[in-house]
Amino acid sequence: MDPSRRRQLRESLGADAVRHSWADLLATHRTPLLVLDPDAVAAAYRRLSAELTGFGLHYAVKALPHPAALAVIASCGGGFDVATSGEVDQVRALGVPMHRCIHTHPVKKPADIDHAYRAGVRTFVVDNPVEAQKFSGRSGDIEVLVRLAFPNPTAKSDLSTKFGVEPADAELVVKHVLDSGVGFAGFSFHVGSQGSSVHPYRVALQSTLELCDHVDRTLGVRAHTIDIGGGFPVSYRDPMPGVDRIADVVHEALGERRGQFRLLAEPGRFLAAGAMTLLTSVVGTATRGGKVWHYLDDGLYGSYSNVLTEDVHPPILALREVSDTSSAALDDLKPVTLAGPTCDSVDVVARDYPMPPLTVGDIVVSPLMGAYTTVTSSRFNGIAPTPVVVSNAGGGAWTD
Ligand SMILES: Cc1ncc(COP(=O)(O)O)c(C=O)c1O
Repeated sequence: MDPSRRRQLRESLGADAVRHSWADLLATHRTPLLVLDPDAVAAAYRRLSAELTGFGLHYAVKALPHPAALAVIASCGGGFDVATSGEVDQVRALGVPMHRCIHTHPVKKPADIDHAYRAGVRTFVVDNPVEAQKFSGRSGDIEVLVRLAFPNPTAKSDLSTKFGVEPADAELVVKHVLDSGVGFAGFSFHVGSQGSSVHPYRVALQSTLELCDHVDRTLGVRAHTIDIGGGFPVSYRDPMPGVDRIADVVHEALGERRGQFRLLAEPGRFLAAGAMTLLTSVVGTATRGGKVWHYLDDGLYGSYSNVLTEDVHPPILALREVSDTSSAALDDLKPVTLAGPTCDSVDVVARDYPMPPLTVGDIVVSPLMGAYTTVTSSRFNGIAPTPVVVSNAGGGAWTD
């Protein structure tokens, strides 16, 4: 991690420590602990809406389905991207009008379609003829997006390897949607999650616009919706393209044609990542092969599951660095190994990672732990899920 990034994080986390009374939380709760700040979700939502003007934002529930996060999105006026019957239920439990949801899983059981439809969802996604045929005989008020595949080698998760039809083969899928008797809405894509280039958005949009013209010519059907999916990256340890740059590319690629379409996006990580901060503590310290190892009470099978499943590397700082930026120890950073609490040797959160001197009981902090963390964690080794404390910054906190 770049030293200037570390300095920036020390300052912002120092402010968070005061705002969310980490000292009080740590006195009441044990570590590991995730502190969820719904205001951060609202701020990210406002930022993305201000950039992606004219787009309906459908929060990808999979990133962080915590009710406090979902409630904030709902109160901001946002919609939801749900992909399973369980996610349908999570949103429905909040009392959110379900027409605000789109069902984006390109492959699902008929029972999942039934469940979502009964809940009030009307927009679905398919990417192959077999899936399109599952809509045959269903209500005419359903509309279907055809998901396109655009490879993105710069993404941490290139979703095009698993989902989406090649643009050259998309016409056949559209035909099957029309044959099934439901409405054809248009096209969706996902350029891959946590990509380091804005270019894939341009390529995907240009190709999608060409395809809209193509199906208009060949099948006489107008696409009225374009859904640009998610993928908006987060600067964890290193800087990533900002949403302003992505929005510039998107607006430029759409040009004067933007008025022809209902425009949607499905942001997950960008809205959720900043919502949670992990407080974990040093359980043990050892020297192995001449290197210093610190063992934490959370790891790859717990909240740091994003390291394992996505190869995403959140910043890690000592609490001392963020609460006392005047300390002389701040510049005394030495490379250490930070390991998780399980017996598996894979459970190493960071290697050769610069940290100030740490001893047993010291608190270690990771910001940007809201997306794809708790959702992909396990109970391996009998370790309980890390509790989430919701902090409303103003007047106290409540736990799950
Ligand atoms: C269909 C779909 N939409 C949206 C998202 C959210 O992507 P991100 O978190 O990169 O914004 C995902 C993530 O897997 C997805 O599969």
